Amino acid sequence: MEKKPFYITTPIYYPSDKLHIGHSYCTVATDVMARYKRFQGYDVMFLTGTDEHGQKIEDKAREAGVTPKQFVDRIVEGDENGQGGIKSLWKLMNISYDRFIRTTDDYHVKSVQKIFERLKNQGDIYKSVYKGKYCKPCESFWTESQLVDGKCPDCGREVYDAEEEAYFFRLSKYSDRIIKLFEEHPDWLSPASRANEMMNNFIKAGLEDTCVSRTTFSWGIPVVSDPKHVVYVWIDALTNYITALGYENDQYNDFERFWPADVHFVGKEIVRFHSILWPAMLMALDVPLPKKVFGHGWLLLDGGKMSKSKGNVVDPVVLCERYGVDTLRYFLLREFPFGSDGVFSNEALIARINADLANDLGNLVSRTVAMVGKYFGGTLPTEQQADPMDDELIAMASGLRDTYEKLMESYTFQAALVETFKVISRANKYIDETAPWVLAKDEANKPRLARVMYNLLETIRICSSLLTPFIPDSAEKIRQQIGATEEQFTWETAGVYGTLPADVTVHKGEVLFPRIDLKKELEELEKQQKKAEKAAKKAAKAEKKQEKAPENVIIGIEDFAKVQLKTALVTACEPVPKSDKLLKLQVEVGEEKRQVVSGIAMCYKPEELIGKTVILVSNLKPAKLRGVESQGMILAADAPDGGCKVVFVDGVPSGTTIR
Ligand code: MSP
Repeated sequence: MEKKPFYITTPIYYPSDKLHIGHSYCTVATDVMARYKRFQGYDVMFLTGTDEHGQKIEDKAREAGVTPKQFVDRIVEGDENGQGGIKSLWKLMNISYDRFIRTTDDYHVKSVQKIFERLKNQGDIYKSVYKGKYCKPCESFWTESQLVDGKCPDCGREVYDAEEEAYFFRLSKYSDRIIKLFEEHPDWLSPASRANEMMNNFIKAGLEDTCVSRTTFSWGIPVVSDPKHVVYVWIDALTNYITALGYENDQYNDFERFWPADVHFVGKEIVRFHSILWPAMLMALDVPLPKKVFGHGWLLLDGGKMSKSKGNVVDPVVLCERYGVDTLRYFLLREFPFGSDGVFSNEALIARINADLANDLGNLVSRTVAMVGKYFGGTLPTEQQADPMDDELIAMASGLRDTYEKLMESYTFQAALVETFKVISRANKYIDETAPWVLAKDEANKPRLARVMYNLLETIRICSSLLTPFIPDSAEKIRQQIGATEEQFTWETAGVYGTLPADVTVHKGEVLFPRIDLKKELEELEKQQKKAEKAAKKAAKAEKKQEKAPENVIIGIEDFAKVQLKTALVTACEPVPKSDKLLKLQVEVGEEKRQVVSGIAMCYKPEELIGKTVILVSNLKPAKLRGVESQGMILAADAPDGGCKVVFVDGVPSGTTIR
């Protein structure tokens, strides 16, 4: 029979930094769904990739002293051995993607140019002047009404007034069709709360035309007919879902087969682009809409955003190395409902591994296999005796596949796992109820004992085959331990109780999920964290040394006189996003207000600086650090531990000249 197509996508990631566990979340979920569909017999296309253009990348590359392409190549492809990049992370995490698109790939660039020109020629894209509030980290323009407390509604950071000649996509023209889409297809965007949010916060307010080109940076796809413009990131990014299938290019030719996508999985903050701008763009191109968009929640740390702080390891490579890939995959989907935010902690991860995987599943498998070995030399006899007390377990195991399917189809991964583990727990209870060790005492009970073992093996087979999408390697090990063949470990046989032959032979194997000593492990993690902090301080010190002027250079007073030093009062201070080292300070220099970025985050918390008076090099040429403007530099001394001590002159009025 011809396999049915199933097309699923992750967002394409910005290769601006190393990915953290939050980024892995969506990719793991997509992988689970892709594996589940393959398991069911679908011809799956699982697309992921990287979104490589934009000002952020351009700035970062400049900071790193490389070209933007060299910069993204390193983050995507890894070092010369292919290690340490996004692709190797996905390999490590067993992500079974079928295609990886990079928006710098030639074929994508050419397709985007064609798409842009077509929309321009048909009047869906026009030139105008953009005036608005711009959030640089998010690369988003906002209208006044969209701001939250005057800040970016997505990330909460400062926005500033910006104006530039730009091309616009005529989103307003599609307002009615977007409203209709949401009204007629209430399940098109899930969870329902996200659809309501879109309707109430954006669609009902009236859709405004949206800016789709930039002239302020050059790292982007040039507009063919007006090359001082580059295509602004969302047209470049969203179209990846179709160019990767061969839309407007000859690189691939499965557009007919796989489009429309069955589902786009995306994080909640980019739902707006996927559920409003993307369908409108497709309408303009006269291309059918994806069948569904699912906006998942965010993994947070103690209610805050994911970052490398607070004693929690968020590097997925470290987590996989310490706890195993499958355990991490399992945790991500079991711990948090897919549509909601969740708080990540190492403690929760370890507790979950111990409770579900080591205790419930791991124990069930090892006890069962050990008992079949001990009582029957590894092979069950065919003479077996059933008992009504088996019925409940058999009914639960037999019905699992249908329940699981319903839950998987609605992307409620957590519930699918909960239902599976209910059956696993029931099997553990069944061992206590049937007390095989008592039955084993009497030879006459052997047929009964054999049936008990068979029921356990069958339950394990059904549950672990359904766990394959979540924990592929471990499920395969379980399959081998319980003596099931590949044919007895399929989607079809997961629905057929009694698939294993009565005289099945088991094979004792390694411990699947070793228990972790929570206290010891948390202590160890703390040690590691401290070590990492120390190493980072050392590196910062080394970096600083490099910046220092060469020793023994004598300068004349006329050189020193060129440096203007003034006192400045710190009125506000916050970390620079995605930087361990930088703080952004707002200072008053007499009447004048300035913003200064300083590499002292390792040594001071923002609140320790507010209200302090510092010394500012006030005539330093403004510079951008991590894309944030810095108008001056504050003076600090190197501390012996590799840190620093800011020079405070509290009490001296701000704006006073220092000589
Ligand atoms: N490049 C855009 C997507 C374009 S898709 C056409 C982008 N990239 S991103 O790298 O910033 O984010 C990629 C995905 O990671 C997003 O779906 C985002 O929601 C997700 N996550 C980033 N941090 C996350 C958590 N802490 N938790 C869960 N998902 C998170 O956006």
